[in-house]
Amino acid sequence: MIVIIAGTNRKNSKTRVISKIYQGILSKLGEESIILDLANVPSDFIVSALYENSGKNADFNKYRQVIENCSKFVFIVPEYNGSFPGVLKAFIDGLKYPDSFTDKKCALVGISSGTQGGGLAVSHLTDIFNYCGMHVLALKPKLARIEANTSNGRITNDLYRELLENQARQIIDF
Ligand SMILES: Cc1cc2nc3c(=O)[nH]c(=O)nc-3n(C[C@H](O)[C@H](O)[C@H](O)COP(=O)(O)O)c2cc1C
Repeated sequence: MIVIIAGTNRKNSKTRVISKIYQGILSKLGEESIILDLANVPSDFIVSALYENSGKNADFNKYRQVIENCSKFVFIVPEYNGSFPGVLKAFIDGLKYPDSFTDKKCALVGISSGTQGGGLAVSHLTDIFNYCGMHVLALKPKLARIEANTSNGRITNDLYRELLENQARQIIDF
């Protein structure tokens, strides 16, 4: 069982589209998954679920519990201002510290409108997850110019699809 984290709370994000495509790929490979979309996390969580309020927001605690109970993740990570979205870092900061990710495993996918494909975003996130004790799969597809390479909820670029399928196989065996 793999948890796919859609790493932005922007409504109608491409991140969500790629998360659903990834879930389909895992399903074809016989692997169950759920999508944890940051767009559904309580919107006031940076006030009601962090620091002195850590663990006190019942709705946010459901998401904390999902992360605590799972040991394998796929993060779909959009590029915002040359890195990953701040809301994803705030979400990580709201999880049970320090062992929510210790000795766990994840795969990262970067996506962007521009030409970098979230290369720096997944690199920055790799540093954080390694600090937290989580093993990050080496293959990290970077899907640049995402609007031009997706249409009607599908990937139109054969290489992108192949990269995601390769990564999905690897994270299952990781
Ligand atoms: C706050 C913000 C910052 C962004 N910064 C970048 C950027 O630095 N580089 C880039 O190529 N695209 C940037 N984008 C565009 C996203 O990469 C684009 O929206 C893409 O579809 C992935 O994000 P999404 O999942 O929100 O759709 C930015 C978008 C937002 C909302």
